[in-house]
Amino acid sequence: MPESTLAQAALHVRHGSNIGQPLTRRDGVLKVTGGARYAADHHPAGMLHAVMAASSIARGRVTFLDVTAAKAHPGVVEVMTPANRPPLAEDPDAKTNPFMFRLDLLQNDQVRYANQPIAVVIAETLEAATEGAALLSPQYEARSPRVGLDAGESFVPAAVGVGNPATVQLGDVEAALATAARRIDATYETPAQYHNPMEPHAIVAVWDGDGLSIDTPSQSLALAQGRIAGLFGISPEKIHIRSPFLGGGFGSKGMISGPQILGILAARLVGKPVKLVLRREQMYGPVGHRAPTRQRLRIGADSDGKLTAIDHHAKTTSSTFDDFFEPAADVSHTLYASPAIATSHEVVRIDTGTPMFMRAPGEATGSIALESAIDEAAQACGMDPLAFRLKNYAEVEPISGKPFSSKALRYCYAQGAERFGWSRRPLAPRQMRDEAGFLVGWGMGTATFPAYMFQAEARAVVRRDGSGLVETGAHEMGQGAGTALAQIAADGLGLELEQVEFRTGTSDLPDAGIAGGSSHTATAGMAIHNAGAAVIAKLSDLATGDERSPLFGASNAGVVARGGRLFHRDDESRSESYAAILGRAGLTEVAARGQSAADPAAQSTYAMHAHGAVFAEVKVDPDLGQIRATRVVGAFAAGRVINPRLARSQLLGGMIWGVSFALHEHAVMDRRSGRTLNANLAEYHVPVNADVPSLEALMIDEHDPHVNALGIKGVGEIGITGSAGAVANAVWHATGIRVRRFPIRIDDLLMPA
Ligand code: MOS
Repeated sequence: MPESTLAQAALHVRHGSNIGQPLTRRDGVLKVTGGARYAADHHPAGMLHAVMAASSIARGRVTFLDVTAAKAHPGVVEVMTPANRPPLAEDPDAKTNPFMFRLDLLQNDQVRYANQPIAVVIAETLEAATEGAALLSPQYEARSPRVGLDAGESFVPAAVGVGNPATVQLGDVEAALATAARRIDATYETPAQYHNPMEPHAIVAVWDGDGLSIDTPSQSLALAQGRIAGLFGISPEKIHIRSPFLGGGFGSKGMISGPQILGILAARLVGKPVKLVLRREQMYGPVGHRAPTRQRLRIGADSDGKLTAIDHHAKTTSSTFDDFFEPAADVSHTLYASPAIATSHEVVRIDTGTPMFMRAPGEATGSIALESAIDEAAQACGMDPLAFRLKNYAEVEPISGKPFSSKALRYCYAQGAERFGWSRRPLAPRQMRDEAGFLVGWGMGTATFPAYMFQAEARAVVRRDGSGLVETGAHEMGQGAGTALAQIAADGLGLELEQVEFRTGTSDLPDAGIAGGSSHTATAGMAIHNAGAAVIAKLSDLATGDERSPLFGASNAGVVARGGRLFHRDDESRSESYAAILGRAGLTEVAARGQSAADPAAQSTYAMHAHGAVFAEVKVDPDLGQIRATRVVGAFAAGRVINPRLARSQLLGGMIWGVSFALHEHAVMDRRSGRTLNANLAEYHVPVNADVPSLEALMIDEHDPHVNALGIKGVGEIGITGSAGAVANAVWHATGIRVRRFPIRIDDLLMPA
């Protein structure tokens, strides 16, 4: 281990040098060889297959299910309906905290959205269960569904997102707009979108008395465990959840979904292990989505191009029976300075599954509208969009008045623009063509995402043989948590990565917090860091208090842990190995726990966000209107980067979501049936390799001493926030056509020859 140079290069790293290294994924070989076992790969002995039957209407009730026909089919063992569904200890419609979502668990015959579960067929084979479900031939009493943003009366919710105020105001926006030298007033629409992780929601459930063992993907093992415990009236310790790998989540696996609970109920009903896996089309309803929005942006500026007013009003939809409200306007609190800012939300309840957190909920929807509007404001002021943003980005958070804990946005703008070649951009649209005659446009957007941190716990151990163990129930959903967190673990214990066993992904381990809000590395990482520090403190006490140790007399703070040894901070010739310390003390190991939680003092003093700037190039066929994103450069400042290789992948992934938001994703609702017409991966467009442009993510060094001791912000979601707007603005620059309804389509770009 090159402990000298690397450790010295990063003096602020307390223990070691794994943090900051661009390691490849520790689970990479397992994944590419098929060795990584996902939930649905499990086949316990005697397992039966369950297939969910889902409603084909969006509103009404089920009047008949041909259970007899289904049960008569060879191989079918049982059909679970509201008539025989095992009892639950808690009403699935109860909601006692904002992280609890109402579930459809066959509690009655009511249908409140399309694809709602209405029965589960359990059979010896998947084929028999599938056929059994088809034989149910449900009949309905259907009522006409309420669909879309204008379906009915709207209301102002008590809160949006998780507990954010729905309405916020600074200064007098109307007065400022009335006197503004330049004004824009534009309305943008974003569609319903679905998470579409590659791995569908799946569960293998095994009951043993009142103990429950399950394999299912989860972004929050502790929340899932608690929810199941409440529903079944058993203690959380009786529930063992394994979720070592998720095939993506994007927010849809943050809260355990109804279909996953149905798998547990089915296993209870038949008294055997049961597997239930959603089909792709069944994921368009009971497992969450991103709600559509209509957002009106009014922006005022003075004759120098300085913002004087931002008014951001977002209308969105939610289900008829639960509360999740996409906080789309909130992004306008934090990004641009203006003496007057107002943000507000209204909601229409429609016959849909409940919306859910999805890939930067609020920030993604809000920022494509805000960044488009800022672009339009720059245009109204006759200014270059970068110059306009440089003039108007906020130095302190406008609404709260708090300084940012750190903000390297200026460098993101500068380095991203330089890399992209922005200075060669003509101000007017429709000025550039490539050699094939395609219109070329360049656009940009500002990226921002809050730096969240939640509560978590970890346990760390140093053993007599000099090895280490770190345990926390973290979530490896493809983002690389299993690698980045192990790097923090190794540094926390002052050991080589190979010397540390990192146990994760199961519910019996300490709670690593939710893998959501781009917070997982900070949250679980700080718990791991603190657990490691606690173990080192114990080792240090053993050594410094023992006159036989070369470290005798050094204070705890006078000791540095590195390479499996403790060193005297002022005299590195005095050191002792962990093994020697434990051996002399007659111990086989020392263990300690560490916790993480946001620091309330820092939270009340500073606004904490990651930032970035994204520059995009598109090419548009002037005859056909076909749009291609060809080049996207993003520069992001997100605090300390634990693993630059993995962080880069996260940022690139987010930028691809941005392209996807601007140009591809759109769940098309049938207004008559309330069903999604394109509930499949052929017609719900997500970018495939051919749609993904040349991508570059620059990581701007940022030291943030306030977010947490490791200086970690998040990289999971920020990539979508600047990119979607950048692509949209590039389409305007290519064509001169401002499209305000997303995704932008060929027919939006019909141009005069
Ligand atoms: Mo993410 S939408 O916070 O899983």
